Amino acid sequence: MKPLGTPYSSSATRVMLLGAGELGKEVVIALQRLGVETIAVDRYSRAPGHQVAHHARTIDMSDPAELRELILAERPDVVVPEIEAIATAVLADLEAEGIVRVVPTARATRLTMDREGIRRLAAETLALPTSPYRFCDTLAELTAAIEGAGTEGAGTEGAGTEGAGIGYPCMVKPVMSSSGKGQSRIDDAAGVRAAWDHAMSGGRVAGGRVIVEAFVDFDYEITQLTVRARGADGEVGTYFCEPIGHRQVGGDYVESWQPHPMPPVARERAQQIARAVTENLGGEGVFGVELFVSGEQVWFNEVSPRPHDTGMVTMVTQWQNEFELHARAILGLPVDTALKSPGASAVIYGGVEASGLVFDAVDDALRVPHSEIRLFGKGESFPRRRMGVALVHDVDVEVARAGARRAASLVRPRAV
Ligand SMILES: Nc1ncnc2c1ncn2[C@@H]1O[C@H](COP(=O)(O)OP(=O)(O)OP(=O)(O)O)[C@@H](O)[C@H]1O
Ligand SMILES: [Mg+2]
Repeated sequence: MKPLGTPYSSSATRVMLLGAGELGKEVVIALQRLGVETIAVDRYSRAPGHQVAHHARTIDMSDPAELRELILAERPDVVVPEIEAIATAVLADLEAEGIVRVVPTARATRLTMDREGIRRLAAETLALPTSPYRFCDTLAELTAAIEGAGTEGAGTEGAGTEGAGIGYPCMVKPVMSSSGKGQSRIDDAAGVRAAWDHAMSGGRVAGGRVIVEAFVDFDYEITQLTVRARGADGEVGTYFCEPIGHRQVGGDYVESWQPHPMPPVARERAQQIARAVTENLGGEGVFGVELFVSGEQVWFNEVSPRPHDTGMVTMVTQWQNEFELHARAILGLPVDTALKSPGASAVIYGGVEASGLVFDAVDDALRVPHSEIRLFGKGESFPRRRMGVALVHDVDVEVARAGARRAASLVRPRAV
């Protein structure tokens, strides 16, 4: 990496964020603090990251021609994808042509944009433990994959118990979706059609493929934030943050905390899995490795090759939060993943469908001891849209959790 320069000058280090939501916004802020010139891109104008970047661009990032044209016009040193819905083939081409560096790599962005790429890599190539699964393209294939009958030649593929069905309960998810969209749990044969229909309406592309997975009856789930960054010897090393516990409702994160206590064997397995998958994906940056844990058993769920939403808690728990770690790793700078204090985060939802919300009682929320509130600045609200987050640190992680939930609940979004 060339030396850091000065924004708006020919020496500038220029970084383009593809996706300018709340996570992209924090990455931009971290980069700005190092004097990096930032270009924030999103599909709608005035997105959170647009509001803090040097340059704001609005394009359809899933359109290959538009994306290529923008990158060629801006010529950033580095492109940092912050969302999954991107024309990743363009990134692969531009990386291969030596025109831009993609973080962590164009291949990682492509493999993680759909559940099939990353699941096959983890389970089939790396032999990491995952729930048994199959990929299906029709309702008939889905039924056969679950029930097991007639699976042979039915067109379903995947690993797991050969010949036998996935069984109930199981989870069905569109291969292209995030934040729980189109995802449902099936408890018996009566629920299969509804789950199929729900998946067809919730995927990023019309119609399309689903993954059906056996339901894992885990004790808890964690995000293992893992950083690949250059050390003093110039080699890329792997650094682990303390495990982040989190609670999901309908596939969307509602609260997270750090550290989550784990037995030493499970902790070691979590790090082994995280190391294996991130070493394969390569490049530099932060990865959010999602894992299910039951006793000493650990299953790989999925990985984000970028900061993770549950990792927002690190804004109050680490000396270098996940966004600063990402910025440093991208720029070839050293990282420190040490914990500063236990803490927790809780999501503030819009609650209403409206534009230009006001937020009442932020003062009350900030009277919760050791609390911080982040409001993302999104112009449009809807009931389950994430509009902000409450953060609380405390020596006792349970006190922090209660505090974060309380602070988040005190903030009252209101339409005007
Ligand atoms: N096989 C499974 N067994 C048990 N629970 C599951 C399973 N798959 C998913 N879940 C639950 O649903 C949540 C969301 O699933 P997943 O992470 O696969 O989807 P997602 O849409 O990518 O979510 P996000 O984007 O918020 O990470 C998981 O964090 C977990 O709580
Ligand atoms: Mg997930």
